[in-house]
Amino acid sequence: MTKSSSIGQWSSRWMFIMAATGSAVGLGNVWKFPYMTGQYGGSSFVIVYLLCILFVGLPILIAEIMIGRRGNASPAEATAKVAIESNRSRHWWWLGFFGMITAFLFLSVYSIVAGWTASYVLRSLQGSFVGVTPDQISQMFDDFLKDPWQLLLWHTFFMLITVVIVARGLKEGLEKAIGWMVPGLFLIVIILVGYALSTPGFMEGIKFMFRIDWAAIDTKSFLAALGHSFFTLSIATASMMIYGAYLERKAKIAKIAVTIATLDTLVALFAGMAIFPLVFTYGLPHDQGPSLVFKTLPIAFGEMPGGGIIGALFFTLLLLAALGSSISLVEPIVAWLIERWNMRRAVAAWLTSGLIWVLGFAALLSFNYWEDLKLFGHWTYYTFVDGLVSLVLLPVGGMLLAIYAGWVMKRKYSEEELMMPPWLYSIWRFIVRYFSPIAVIVIAWISF
Ligand code: PFF
Repeated sequence: MTKSSSIGQWSSRWMFIMAATGSAVGLGNVWKFPYMTGQYGGSSFVIVYLLCILFVGLPILIAEIMIGRRGNASPAEATAKVAIESNRSRHWWWLGFFGMITAFLFLSVYSIVAGWTASYVLRSLQGSFVGVTPDQISQMFDDFLKDPWQLLLWHTFFMLITVVIVARGLKEGLEKAIGWMVPGLFLIVIILVGYALSTPGFMEGIKFMFRIDWAAIDTKSFLAALGHSFFTLSIATASMMIYGAYLERKAKIAKIAVTIATLDTLVALFAGMAIFPLVFTYGLPHDQGPSLVFKTLPIAFGEMPGGGIIGALFFTLLLLAALGSSISLVEPIVAWLIERWNMRRAVAAWLTSGLIWVLGFAALLSFNYWEDLKLFGHWTYYTFVDGLVSLVLLPVGGMLLAIYAGWVMKRKYSEEELMMPPWLYSIWRFIVRYFSPIAVIVIAWISF
């Protein structure tokens, strides 16, 4: 299994880090993390989240990249190959496949929100938030969601960019796009934090995020933080597995995974540091949930001098972040179609993205025509898939990856693949064998 890659390889280690960071940094960092922090009371959530990243997310991220590189094939084939090597059943192919299904469902809802961000870039530039009342801004967003054609337009726009990138292949498509998107994204987030620094509410915003208040930590924030640690590191969607498959053999996976998790966490914290000072400066509510960036922030953009540009930068940041993620959600499926069904890349990319685009209709209709159509009497398609993915498929998938890396794969193979100092390897192995699976079960148990 040490033969050189037959399925393509990143041109450098740095390229892999950028690609994986581009996948990890997404709507989760700039949209979800800040609104969850607001909803769950600020710093208490931030602390639990950081602990989940360090002790559960990071070790599993290492495991997923390792499985991909060892398997050096598309996810379903990789999990089969690596299991066979350890004298286990080839039926483990379903673990990689499970990740691909998760990715597929995931992108059908993710793309809708990504579309909103694209539309909001345009609105900021047009000055739509200037000279209007907060109620009108809120109404603007509600009206937007009520219009399926608008949502379809932006969802289509987003999926089109994704497919064009993926169809062009690893070197010509992914690497070229990632090479400017990821640095661009970091530049924007730094500009926005710089701007927030100049506002009077900066310290208040920072205190809200970082003041330690142990009493405020409750069990509900645990499942949310755990689910989000998988979400934000792109674990369990086979994305990191396929990206790992393209990684050269000599690269030290653990070191690279720490870099990715650190960059990802930095962007989330920076996003919070860019947003909360504005929220406090303009006396806006911080606990509005998902509408924080689409209803609350535009009020600030409408009032501040140069708000059109700051707003456009902010939504461009979201858009770039979402794009880096979406290409990594399509890629595992495309790689599998090429390998298993001998498809041409372009065909595989258009087929996968086309099907996701169609499934996205259900998501976008659930904000308007199908708003009252409740699955199991409770959820719209969007809320159902969003919850299913974040609270069930990602934690379960993450747990299975840990079990696979810790119990299915033989010790000598993971040791050989990870090339870690022995003491660190022992800690990692203990975490994936015992700590992560038990943590997922306990947290799920307490929360339901
Ligand atoms: N990590 C992305 C985010 O934080 O928005 C979400 C994600 C992207 C998950 C790609 C999984 C994935 F494969």
